[in-house]
Amino acid sequence: MFELKNINKSFQLPTGETFQVLKDFSLSVNKGEVFGLIGLSGAGKSTALRTFNLLEAPDQGQVIFKGKDISTIQDKELRLVRQKIGMIFQHFNLLSNKTVSENVALSLKIAGWKSAQIKPRVMECLELVRLQDKHDVYPNQLSGGQKQRVAIARSIANNPDLLLADEPTSALDPLTKNEILECLLRLNKALGLTVVISTHEMGLVKKLCQRVAIINGGQNLETLDVREGQIQPTSSFGKALLETI
Ligand SMILES: Nc1ncnc2c1ncn2[C@@H]1O[C@H](COP(=O)(O)OP(=O)(O)OP(=O)(O)O)[C@@H](O)[C@H]1O
Ligand SMILES: [Mg+2]
Repeated sequence: MFELKNINKSFQLPTGETFQVLKDFSLSVNKGEVFGLIGLSGAGKSTALRTFNLLEAPDQGQVIFKGKDISTIQDKELRLVRQKIGMIFQHFNLLSNKTVSENVALSLKIAGWKSAQIKPRVMECLELVRLQDKHDVYPNQLSGGQKQRVAIARSIANNPDLLLADEPTSALDPLTKNEILECLLRLNKALGLTVVISTHEMGLVKKLCQRVAIINGGQNLETLDVREGQIQPTSSFGKALLETI
């Protein structure tokens, strides 16, 4: 189980004012599920995602990773936890001067894998995202969808317990979006990988997620079951959002 419990988070603005981005924010994700965060721009989705791996440190509240509160861990302990939480982004964030294999290998090198084990693991991950034939090319020779699949291979290389996906398809055309969703779904099924994904798109939620949280104004308004076929929000914002998108 992965949880955010009663998280408060504020940012200091250049004007000296503080802006509270997460307000008593709680979210509970079950092992093995794909969980969506949906909401308008600025709602706090990325900040919530980044709290799971402490890229944003909460001002208050608990971050539970595999049963343990990690909200105040630091240094080596934090680095070890982060190695077990993969992350992918809207703009892929690949290193352009490294080949596909080298991009995937980097996370393993940082995690201290022995060099003899890195190559086979890199190829295994590239096979999982169906890109083994591209191992030797540079990112600028790939399509957007292929770049995102390299980023996915990199994010799963170290056998993470949790994958955070921050709008991973919003820079892609509709067909390529589907390619990435299918890839994530396959990994969720094959590896039992838990995924938390932020999005503006209900179509993505319906295809991929078991549950979705409606995020607005730094709050988790409600968590809805997607599998029942009909997503039935009770909050007025949730109802309005689902009518719009
Ligand atoms: N480092 C920061 N300093 C100040 N304000 C920030 C910082 N990061 C985020 N914010 C503000 O916090 C709010 C929530 O941002 P966040 O990126 O979490 O929203 P989001 O739901 O992911 O939006 P989008 O859908 O556009 O990605 C926004 O108003 C944003 O401007
Ligand atoms: Mg965001």
